Amino acid sequence: MGIFLISTLYACQPQEVAESSTSPVATPVQKTAPTTDTRPIAFLDRQLSTNPAELPPLPYGYNALEKAIDAETMKLHHDRHHAAYVNNLNNALKKHTELQNRSVEALLRDLNSVPEDIRTTVRNNGGGHLNHTIFWQIMSPEGGGQPTGEIAQEINQTFGSFEEFRKQFNQAGGDRFGSGWVWLVRNPQGQLQIVSTPNQDSPIMEGSYPIMGNDVWEHAYYLRYQNRRADYLNNWWDVVNWTEINRRAQASQQNNS
Ligand SMILES: [Fe+2]
Repeated sequence: MGIFLISTLYACQPQEVAESSTSPVATPVQKTAPTTDTRPIAFLDRQLSTNPAELPPLPYGYNALEKAIDAETMKLHHDRHHAAYVNNLNNALKKHTELQNRSVEALLRDLNSVPEDIRTTVRNNGGGHLNHTIFWQIMSPEGGGQPTGEIAQEINQTFGSFEEFRKQFNQAGGDRFGSGWVWLVRNPQGQLQIVSTPNQDSPIMEGSYPIMGNDVWEHAYYLRYQNRRADYLNNWWDVVNWTEINRRAQASQQNNS
């Protein structure tokens, strides 16, 4: 009976609010995150404000990424899901207004310093706000194709080829059980690495700099792709914004202490 129950549970469709679980490529979240890192993450010129947190406008129309993502998904994803993370974060911080002078990045890098009664809410919604703010920027209607600039060279050096990198990235995104993200990060050792995070966890919680990431929550693809996450992962490369990713890769090399 016990085995049957476990099998049944694993056969269920992934839920949007998944339990915290790690994939083979994920690194466990550290108990004490580094707090000396002050690099902006969502935007490259400023940290993400919590006074109040604000929904950034989409940098293109809802239908601009039709090559990979339909307009209805983009509208719901940005106007409802991302907006909800922003609202939930602001509501949580009303209980501890002293935290409103800290950025989203600062809160996520030192979650243990966030009062316990709102810690999980800040983790999920601050993470959601940060992750989606990056996500909109690293896609473009003019995106796709082969990587350009320095990141192209570094991908080749690290993974052997763009094709191999894309294969490993898609694999990690496909292996993420339930909801989460797949990322290319610069890890604390300065190396490029593919990681996957559960729910709305950010790589900055582990001291890594997220250079690019793909959202593998069902809300990111289900209307067009239903359960075919692999098809979504494959098509997504048609809208990847290599110009912005090069900017982020450069920012990730800045001194983090
Ligand atoms: Fe999302």
